[in-house]
Amino acid sequence: FDHCFTKQDDGYLYCEGLKVQDVMEAVEKRPFYLYSKPQITRNVEAYKDALEGLNSIIGYAIKANNNFVILKHLRELGCGAVLVSGNELRLALAAGFDPTRCVFNGNGKLLEDLVLAAQEGVFVNIDSEFDLDNIVSAARIAGKKVNVLLRINPDVDPQVHPYVATGNKNSKFGIRNEKLQWFLDAVKSYPDELKLVGAHCHLGSTITKVDIFRDAAAIMVKFIDEIRAQGFDISYLNIGGGLGIDYYHTGTVLPTPRDLIDTVRELVKSRNLNLIIEPGRSLIANTCCFVNRVTGVKTNGTKNFIVIDGSMAELIRPSLYDAYQHIELVSPPPSDSAVSTFDVVGPVCESADFLGKNRELPAPARGSGLVVHDAGAYCMSMASTYNLKMRPPEYWVCFLDFDFCSQTNKFQFVIIKTF
Ligand code: LLP
Repeated sequence: FDHCFTKQDDGYLYCEGLKVQDVMEAVEKRPFYLYSKPQITRNVEAYKDALEGLNSIIGYAIKANNNFVILKHLRELGCGAVLVSGNELRLALAAGFDPTRCVFNGNGKLLEDLVLAAQEGVFVNIDSEFDLDNIVSAARIAGKKVNVLLRINPDVDPQVHPYVATGNKNSKFGIRNEKLQWFLDAVKSYPDELKLVGAHCHLGSTITKVDIFRDAAAIMVKFIDEIRAQGFDISYLNIGGGLGIDYYHTGTVLPTPRDLIDTVRELVKSRNLNLIIEPGRSLIANTCCFVNRVTGVKTNGTKNFIVIDGSMAELIRPSLYDAYQHIELVSPPPSDSAVSTFDVVGPVCESADFLGKNRELPAPARGSGLVVHDAGAYCMSMASTYNLKMRPPEYWVCFLDFDFCSQTNKFQFVIIKTF
């Protein structure tokens, strides 16, 4: 796996050739998110290459990161969008996503949002009996037939943290197979309101074994065969998102988008299906670092702490899921600095406020930079204002094909505020 943020021989951290230290000096003095625009492009291209030869939609899961500039970039690269709220739908429309390449998901979709989805021609996943009822009402209010998929809960264990597992039988999402016939009959009874076009499943997030996707896809195509046998002309298989990334930076080889697509390719082709995928994390997580300043270092009892200006308010994944995100200093440490085991913590008034635990790091100088890696997904989009902290600004590093200062066409990287 390539990381777009790399330590170079001078001991500084770079993002695509730009020193993160230089960015810190150029922008407001507070924690911020720094993205690599070229890495976003590369991630999308990896999926596009993997999908070659299949009819497909890459539905980017907006919940992972809803920055408007990033959304527009993803749309320009050809992505569709996966939405879980009316506001995500409105944002996707404002960013110019083609609504007929968007999927509206969720176990608690509201009628007014479903009406908008129906008007715009978005695919809608049916999640429950009452959801079906609301989709029928929305179709009538909008005066439009809705293209629906059944969200099936295939009861496949994604082997991830329980908070991000969704496709096991006791989860609040989707329809269990024993209820499938009821839903098929119900859809049949609303020929003016609903057109069943496919089946959907989403197993969970941070999945690191592609076999899990293959097992689920095998179950799903069996359902599709059964559904087709009842006369439904369905053509979409949506296998959801969930591919994990290399949070640990240990060089472990994890499945790539190609590995994921290759495990389901034959199943999809053999049934002549269009494949919808819903990646969030694997498109955006590794494109970003959360950049902080060290406020100070302290020791209590047997614990050493690096206290930074960022916190669980801006980045809650470690506190909420005990998630590991790699931490690194932005600049070389002072020459007399010793490596110790530190908890990296913020200034928020509770002990859940940590960004990393037991990290081997050189003691950093006060005011120096420290990054939390892989912060592009579920970090800014889950940020809060707890302790009245400000939601952090976001910048990206991007490529210019003409340098107006030197009047040459030498490539250059610039920083753009993305909000
Ligand atoms: N499709 C559906 C129906 C989903 O529920 C999700 C994520 C995705 C697609 C995108 O999954 P991804 O490719 O990003 O794994 N906040 C948690 C992750 C929650 C994921 C929720 N659903 C975290 O920070 O790890």
